Amino acid sequence: MHALPEQSTALIRLSDYRAPAWRVETVELDFDLGIDASELSARLLLRRDPSQNAPLRLDGENLQLLSIALDGRQLPATAYRYAGNGLEVDGARDGSVLETRVRLRPAANTALEGLYLSGSREAGFLLTQCEAEGFRHITFFTDRPDVQSRYSVTLRADRARFPVLLAGGNPDGSGELEGGRHWARFVDPHPKPSYLFALVAGRLEKIERDYVTAEGRAVQLKIWAEADAIDRCHYAMDALERSMRWDEQAYGRNYDLDVFHVVATHDFNMGAMENKGLNIFNAKCLLADPDSTTDDEYRHVEAVVAHEYFHNWSGNRVTCRDWFQLSLKEGLTVFREQSFSADMNSAPLKRIEDVSLLRRAQFPEDAGPLAHPVRPAQYSEINNFYTATVYEKGAELVRMLAGALGKNGFRRGMDRYFERNDGRAATLENFLAALGDANGTDLTPYLAWYGQAGTPRLSARGRHDAARHEYTLTLAQHVAGPESRPPLPIPVKLALFTHHGDMLPLHLDGQTSKSPNELVVALTQAEQDFVFTDVVTAPVPSLLRGFSAPVILECEYTPDELALLLAHDVDGFNRWEAGQQLAARAYENLRDDTSADALHAWCEALASLFDNPSIDDALLADLLTPPGEVELAERETAIDPQRIHQLRQDLQQRLAERLGADALHRRYQALAAHTSIELDALSQARRRLKRRALELLYLLDSPEACRLAAAQYRSAPGMTDRLAALTVLVRGNATQASAALLDYRERYADNALALDKWFAVQAQLPGEPALERVLLLERDAAFTLKNPNRVQALLGAFVRGNPSGFHRIDGAGYRLLAERLTKLDTLNPQVAARLATAFNGWQRLEPLRREAARAAIVELARHDGLSRNLTEIIGSVLN
Ligand code: PHE
Ligand code: ZN
Repeated sequence: MHALPEQSTALIRLSDYRAPAWRVETVELDFDLGIDASELSARLLLRRDPSQNAPLRLDGENLQLLSIALDGRQLPATAYRYAGNGLEVDGARDGSVLETRVRLRPAANTALEGLYLSGSREAGFLLTQCEAEGFRHITFFTDRPDVQSRYSVTLRADRARFPVLLAGGNPDGSGELEGGRHWARFVDPHPKPSYLFALVAGRLEKIERDYVTAEGRAVQLKIWAEADAIDRCHYAMDALERSMRWDEQAYGRNYDLDVFHVVATHDFNMGAMENKGLNIFNAKCLLADPDSTTDDEYRHVEAVVAHEYFHNWSGNRVTCRDWFQLSLKEGLTVFREQSFSADMNSAPLKRIEDVSLLRRAQFPEDAGPLAHPVRPAQYSEINNFYTATVYEKGAELVRMLAGALGKNGFRRGMDRYFERNDGRAATLENFLAALGDANGTDLTPYLAWYGQAGTPRLSARGRHDAARHEYTLTLAQHVAGPESRPPLPIPVKLALFTHHGDMLPLHLDGQTSKSPNELVVALTQAEQDFVFTDVVTAPVPSLLRGFSAPVILECEYTPDELALLLAHDVDGFNRWEAGQQLAARAYENLRDDTSADALHAWCEALASLFDNPSIDDALLADLLTPPGEVELAERETAIDPQRIHQLRQDLQQRLAERLGADALHRRYQALAAHTSIELDALSQARRRLKRRALELLYLLDSPEACRLAAAQYRSAPGMTDRLAALTVLVRGNATQASAALLDYRERYADNALALDKWFAVQAQLPGEPALERVLLLERDAAFTLKNPNRVQALLGAFVRGNPSGFHRIDGAGYRLLAERLTKLDTLNPQVAARLATAFNGWQRLEPLRREAARAAIVELARHDGLSRNLTEIIGSVLN
């Protein structure tokens, strides 16, 4: 083993937090932009904390320092030290001005952090990415979120090559320079942390719209993209306007600059970035048109546009004191985004989608060696903590708080939070205090949720006393981990059903439920009894309605009880949830070859819902879908992903048999008669159910389903139908698959986002053949490890979206991933580290696969010179 450089393993701890010794009051940046080399002068007005006596130390990574001056005097080499990641300067005082000039190499920056080139040298454009610690790759700075400064930015460049020059803040002049060059200046009146700095320069087109805020401010909205993509920005513009209105109405938050720029790039490590006044988006989260965007993707675009816009208040006006508080902005903003999407679309479907994501992405994370609290206590590389736990579980925690305070109370609390913390860098304690104080309540018990990893288990037992007409519900909580943990506050929204499917009025401790006869009880102890009176016959409880807390519910329902809830629960989420529980039990019937009581109950309940015209088509499609392979694996030890895949196929086949080929066929044809490409709820719902009907039909009559799919592929009016058809053909290994793939490859040769889907569909071929296909696709001219979306489309879809393909018993999937990671890591450590989390959970595989996975990871860990990002993930995963 070689010794790792010290910085690779050094842990940063929350408990070590110290206020900054030095702040930067104002910063003036002056860029000379070029593709190969850009130069930048920075002028910082420094402020020293009089209570601390630390020398001036600024962050700065791999910067080529050209000159340095303090208070107007060039510094001799003896007066400063620059070791590659930090600059120490002697003689700085409160009020000193530090001036540095550095050279950057954007075209050589494959990590996509700091200043980099998107696209080709000839046609591409320059942009920056600074969150979390990218600004130190641009200039020397106190690169931490609790230092907020006023920015003035001047950009200079060749006009022909860089006709558009953008930075955050308000425009403050522009003009010509000699030699065909020009300049533009931007001043941001709002002090901001360095991670929110951004610039963009190059050949871009725009669409524009005028907007007037509720407060009366006129704002120019501008969305920028390369010429071939600008026509796909209109949907995002509409979504942006909806988001701005919604934040005014729901939270009283208005936009606060004269311009709002949004830019699309194909080269981006994440989804999008909320830079002040200059949001930058991964093209896949911004561009949309019917020919290349599915319904799910449209909703995603709307959600991400809203998310980044909402950050202007929850993130930018109020930011995080340190990166341990990341969920303060992310959990809160995801929650705001989810509420917005629920208002714009169907609330129950949105809830189903969010909880599915939580279970697929966050529960496994929380159950394995990568588990961490929503507020982690330590990290080595902060970029590894942009996780489902910080985002999605973080949003669930805000949702619980919002539920506990009620609609008006939460709004009061949020007003207080923004008012108290505006312009400041806050903590989660500040957040809970503001919400609590505005409502005269103490929310500090919820802090426990932020401090502990692991998904709590909530067990529920009911007892009916026929003589006293009482129903006692006993709720208890357990979290794996140290015994001394305090109990968590767990809000449990519930209703009681009669065996005829009616909801009972609830009487509990003198409280009576109002319509719709549901109550929220708060479990605050390890175990508690709740006694409901006037309950004449034994009821069926509907618990955790709307998924009122992010826990795993354990309740001994009989299959008939679950079927009753599936048939009658009016809470759309809980109806679906009952179906999921029942499907999981049906799956166990097949797996363990036990009596098929759950399987029978599930199929019967769905058969009658299938003919029930009052059910929304989209909800029906979701009801007809059992839990995914990842969720099913979560319930097992000695996991065999290929067997899980097979059993899940069998399960769906049994359902299809019960529904019958005729009924599926008829339903498919009836839905196929609607050919609109509209995005309204009804049209989307029809497409969703049509896809589900086709997939189920495939399990009964594959030649007929493939014939229908091939026809659907050819005549599809939009991407939703086209991709659904292609997926059926490819996964089913249909004879028509190769023609469709060839057609698609040509049709979308110049459309990167559509082409990504072509890679992804094939990477998800079930079982053994997937690996061969991945190897083949790696040789396609359009494949490159340099583009994160492409890596995600091929390798990501294979290792994450295709358990039965990745987890080959011979271990070839694991070796492929390990080998590609070593290459990817030298180009882009953030993307490599994220892909490496696919190894999470290997300890719970069955012994042969476990050993093969372990060997591949150990081999990878031995590799010299891995990034801190990848080193940290591998180290944790091996634990
Ligand atoms: N802050 C971004 C968001 O959630 C995510 C992001 C993190 C983007 C780091 C880039 C880099 O909206
Ligand atoms: Zn965010």
